[in-house]
Amino acid sequence: MTDRQLVDRAMAMLERAYCPYSGFAVGAALLCADGSVFTGCNVENAAYGSTICAERTALVKAVSEGHRDDWVALAVAGRGEDWCWPCGSCRQMLYEFAPGLRVLVARGDGQFVTTTLADLLPNGFGPKSLG
Ligand code: THU
Repeated sequence: MTDRQLVDRAMAMLERAYCPYSGFAVGAALLCADGSVFTGCNVENAAYGSTICAERTALVKAVSEGHRDDWVALAVAGRGEDWCWPCGSCRQMLYEFAPGLRVLVARGDGQFVTTTLADLLPNGFGPKSLG
């Protein structure tokens, strides 16, 4: 799967976003080494703090299906004019499983930039930090 295709999978998930409170839809797609893709969208809640981001939706789907150490790349997309950067909580949760993950960050026009989780979360706290 190409980066373009993975970003397109994330953008397709914008339709599934449940975001009646913020109105800010986010889609994500996580590619694994065997070619499987776990998609996600943000799912908001009337108790706002219970909201889950698109990236973490994809993450928990992957882990709960047995994919936790074979991640290749994550795409995240919003509809806005700016790049849809992953929030701090998502960076932290991704770091647990794939500190060197490639991350594709898209905006509403479909353009995307490529970065890494190591750049997004330098000196992160992970399993190894516990000694
Ligand atoms: N959101 C995500 O889904 N991912 C992020 O990395 C940033 C924020 C969602 C959460 C909430 O539903 C909406 O965007 C506005 O914060």
